[in-house]
Amino acid sequence: MRSYSLLAPAKINLYLEILGDRPDGYHELVMVMQSIDLADRIELRANGTDQFRVHCDHEQVPADQSNLAYRAAELMSQQFPEAFARYGAVDITIDKQIPVGAGLAGGSTNAAAVLVGLDMIWELGLTQMEIQELGALLGSDVPFCIVGGTALATGRGEKLDGLPDLENMHLVLAKYRSLSVSTPWAYKTYRQQFGASYLCQPGDLECRRQQVHSGPMIHAIAHRDEAQIGKLLHNDLEKVVLPEYPQVANLRQVFQRFGTLGTLMSGSGPTVFALVISQEQAQQLLTQVRATIPDPDLELWTAKFIPAGIQVAKP
Ligand code: C5P
Repeated sequence: MRSYSLLAPAKINLYLEILGDRPDGYHELVMVMQSIDLADRIELRANGTDQFRVHCDHEQVPADQSNLAYRAAELMSQQFPEAFARYGAVDITIDKQIPVGAGLAGGSTNAAAVLVGLDMIWELGLTQMEIQELGALLGSDVPFCIVGGTALATGRGEKLDGLPDLENMHLVLAKYRSLSVSTPWAYKTYRQQFGASYLCQPGDLECRRQQVHSGPMIHAIAHRDEAQIGKLLHNDLEKVVLPEYPQVANLRQVFQRFGTLGTLMSGSGPTVFALVISQEQAQQLLTQVRATIPDPDLELWTAKFIPAGIQVAKP
């Protein structure tokens, strides 16, 4: 087939713990990642040339090499020059539904879709693990976006262990349209403020074991204990982002006021989400938050957990 339409879901972090520095300059992390049904639609269409082209009508999405989806296509052409020569480049059309610069892996999931789509268009027959390894070259969240569902992510975030699906938990997401947080800034600031508490010796397993506190969350997920999952939501990056962005801290407080299972900032923010147990509750919560903060700059969505990453879209 010469064209594919793919669904590229966003992710949230149910848990994000920073253990310390890595020799490659990144941070050693323990995260629980979750796919949600807020998704972009990516169309890949063979264009009969040797030039990849990105089309997206969202003003914050670039069409050049700074777009991770474009870089994913370039990476594939470098890795598989024969297939590229035979089948040529593609037009990549992004129907953007996931907010940009939001902590929801919008760019990473678009790149993941390009890897999966080109594997099919170029008839490469790669395994999911091979596609994930290519994804890790583009960004720490790309491997998770490929496989999706519920997973424990360690290392830079690229080492994945599947966890039992939490299908059908519901949530409300909130983000100020005009606000975005730089992920490198968030990690750099965290290092400046909390670097003294980092892992003593990277590679020292005993030291690492003492630093990791994700056990109770994994246990709650294994038992699908929704109340506990809500209570155990944790994100170390809140410690630097919330003081710098009082609007985000306020959003979190507003969610807490309405008796949700729990609320948290996703990734490096600034999106905040709150977990609830039904679609009706999600809709009611959205209405309550909208009434409390009538600011037109505030965007709100209801969504639910899904058990998959990149999927071929139904026509
Ligand atoms: O991997 P990715 O390009 O998405 O990461 C964006 C930035 O987030 C990195 O440049 C780095 O500053 C920070 N980061 C980090 N440690 C990680 C993942 C990301 O310091 N494990």
